[in-house]
Amino acid sequence: MPKKIDWNEKLSTEILSLDEQHAALFQLFNEFIDVMETGSSQTVLVEQYTYIISETLKHFAYEEQIMKNIGFPEYSAHKEHHEILRQDADLILKDLQDGKGGDEISPSVNFLRALIVKHMVEKDLKIRDYIKQGTL
Ligand SMILES: [Fe+2]
Ligand SMILES: [Fe+2]
Repeated sequence: MPKKIDWNEKLSTEILSLDEQHAALFQLFNEFIDVMETGSSQTVLVEQYTYIISETLKHFAYEEQIMKNIGFPEYSAHKEHHEILRQDADLILKDLQDGKGGDEISPSVNFLRALIVKHMVEKDLKIRDYIKQGTL
């Protein structure tokens, strides 16, 4: 089963709204893993996963708006990376809709988890760095 993710200070963008959204997404992800582990019905898996995707897309849109507002130079590249993550997430949704169960999607979910953490560390934290740079 995929590992859960815990939000911690090292992941802080120092923008409260973004941090809260990141932590809330982790929470949803962890709940999804619980659902996978309890061997819930396919309908529940699909519903929960679809909900995570919709919350994630809201978060991406919010974050992109912040980047736009502050004139973040890597806006386009960051937005593109969100799109790639969305496509990766959609592949898992397709598997779930095709009837694949928790055990079968587990490796992809684990991989997606790693991609998400990597995105936060390598891309989202750059927003913080950019803001800090401007306030020195
Ligand atoms: Fe991002
Ligand atoms: Fe983010």
